Parts: sequence; structure tokens; C-alpha cells
Amino acid sequence: MIATRAGGARRARLVALGAHVPERIVTNDDLAAMVDTSDEWITSRTGIRSRRWAREDQASSDLAVEAARRCLEDAGVAAGDLDMLIVPTATPDHLFPSTAAITADAIGAHGAAAYDLLAACSGFVYGLGQAAALVEAGMADRVLVVGAEVLSHMVDLEDRSTCVLFGDAAGAALVVAGDPGTTTGFLGFELGADGSGAGQLAIPAGGGRIPVARSGGLDGFLTMNGPEVFRFATRIMVESVARLLEATGASIDDVDLVVPHQANQRIIDHAATRLGIPAEKMYNNLEHYGNTSSASIPLAMAEARDAGRLKPGDLVLMVGFGGGLTWGATVVRYEPLEAGA
Ligand code: UT7
Repeated sequence: MIATRAGGARRARLVALGAHVPERIVTNDDLAAMVDTSDEWITSRTGIRSRRWAREDQASSDLAVEAARRCLEDAGVAAGDLDMLIVPTATPDHLFPSTAAITADAIGAHGAAAYDLLAACSGFVYGLGQAAALVEAGMADRVLVVGAEVLSHMVDLEDRSTCVLFGDAAGAALVVAGDPGTTTGFLGFELGADGSGAGQLAIPAGGGRIPVARSGGLDGFLTMNGPEVFRFATRIMVESVARLLEATGASIDDVDLVVPHQANQRIIDHAATRLGIPAEKMYNNLEHYGNTSSASIPLAMAEARDAGRLKPGDLVLMVGFGGGLTWGATVVRYEPLEAGA
């Protein structure tokens, strides 16, 4: 689906960011001591050099709480003033209760509706789409979107084809209603899903089809057909961004920063070349964190802001892709509350 903001309705703005990563750094050499891999293979095939792993007793909500607090602090908004808390995650604490409800309670967002959103690595862009729609429909004034993952808990540490790729993190963004007359905010969204590729990237057990209690311990790990997902990712990143730019009328020249889902440097470089995005407009931090699924885009956004690469008023293009198979892209002007935009 494509949705653009042609005007008239009240606008949703992205005003604040926050992120959190667990302390433990796991390098490629650390992994080479555990499975049959090497720093050379991982670096050349993916661009990843290290990733963060949560402790065994840390779940997604523990990381989400820290990212949420930092984001609210950035905005100067109290948790009690949130209307909604959306947690995109592929690694929820439980099937239910939701990671969002647990996070909302921990940060003191007692007046907020809270729910998880399952769109794997596209989850954060989907979450922004829902936040913007809720705000623009007048149903909410302040929506916090917190992508949070502990993928290290879900990979088979004996499977070199997956355990080297993923990392743990949380990243948050606050979406609020613009003042009457505001004409910026989100320019549009391009979101999609193709369930015919459902088996290409999955955690098969734990739901109603293969209940964990009856799985005999099998199928509980993340499985991926790497080359097939690679082909999908390189194609969809280009197509989704092209469709979004055409629908919104924005061009790569108008965009100040591109923040893609951090899955593989080769995928990102391919898309950047095909879309004509100059290197100085791309923000990547895959090298340090690996693939953190729904946390990767907000983590990169927060880091770009801290590094001075994302500035107030910048037009930002985000694009995600992953399990489902799903994808999502959006263009938004970053307008921190301090800038008075
Ligand atoms: O966030 C959701 C979206 N996910 C993605 O976008 C991931 C998309 N896929 C990829 O990024 C890549 O497919 C991978 C990085 C996962 C794999 O790279 P590849 O170039 O597609 O490698 P491959 O799977 O075709 O495997 C090539 C070889 C195989 O050996 P043989 O059969 O050629 O002898 C693998 O067994 O590399 C081997 N291999 C490894 N070797 C050393 C696979 N994993 C490793 C490893 N270390 N960790």
C-alpha cells in the first residue's frame, strides 16, 4: 500500500529519538572461537565486525524501557502523557502479555494503550505508519514507537549461517501531532507483505501452529534461506524506495539522510548504487551492531543524531525489509521539539 500526506488533515511529526544496546560486545573473533567461521568471512560477506548480546536474563522489554526513557527525555515529554506505546518486535518477551504492556508499566505510561507489532525487520517503519495514522486521525496526540529485539536468544549458536548475523538492541521514536497549519512531518509510506515467502525467514515454533510445549525443542531457533532473502532484499529495497519517492514527489536530491535497515552491507550498497544515493547521504552502523531487526533503524537514527549527521529539519528516508516477507519505507522531516518547528 502507498499512503501520502497531500494536505488538509493534521500532521504527525517525528520529534525525538532514543536507543539502548546491551553492554556485552561479541566480536567476529569471539564467534570464530564458537563455530566454524572467521572474521574474514563475516566481514567480507556482511560488513559486520561486532554485535551486542543481551544477558540471558534480559528480554526485549528490558532494552525497550531504556530506549523509551531516553527518547522521552530527549523530547521533554512525560511517560504519563503518552496515548499509545507500540513495540515492533520479532522477539517479544512472551506471546502474551505484550512486550509493550510490560514496557508501558515500567516507564510509567499508565494512560497509554500498548501493543506489540509483528512485522520483523520492517516493524519499525510499520510502527511509524501506525503512529502517524493514529495521530493524523485525531485518535492520539503522542505515540511512542519502540523497536526492541533480543535475537541472540533466538539463534542457534551452532548454526554459523545465522548466529553471526544478529544482535540485540532497542530504538525509540516519538510521534506527536503538529500544531495546526503544520505542513511537514511524514510525507508518506510504502508498506507491503508477501506471505508466499513466509518460510524463507522464520522462528517456526512458539505460536499456535507449532506450540512450544509440543515442539520437542525443535524449530525454536531462527531459520533463514540467506541467498533467497538476499535476492528479495536487494530487489525490494530499490522498488519500495522508488515507489515511495514517486508517490510523494520527493527525490534523492531532496533527502538529507537515508537510514536503511542494517542487514548486510552488500544489500545496502547495491540499493544505494541502483537508487543513485551518494555515500555521504547513507547512515550505516551495521559494523558495530549486526542485524538488530526492528531496532536497527531507530538505533541508527539516534546514533546519526548524536554524531551530528541527522540535524533538525533534515528530510530522512527510512527503508526496512525482512521476515513475512515484509517491507516498508517512509520519508519524514525530523523536527525535534527544541527546534520549535
Ligand atoms: O533482516 C532480515 C533480512 N535478512 C537479510 O537481509 C539477510 C540476507 N542474506 C544475506 O545477507 C546473505 O545471504 C548471508 C550473509 C546470510 C550469507 O551470504 P551468502 O553470500 O549468501 O552466502 P551463502 O549462504 O550462499 O553461503 C556461502 C558459503 C556456504 O558454503 P559452501 O556451501 O559454498 O561451501 C556456507 O556454508 O558460506 C558458508 N557459510 C559460512 N562460512 C563461514 C555460511 N555462513 C558462514 C559463516 N562462516 N558464518
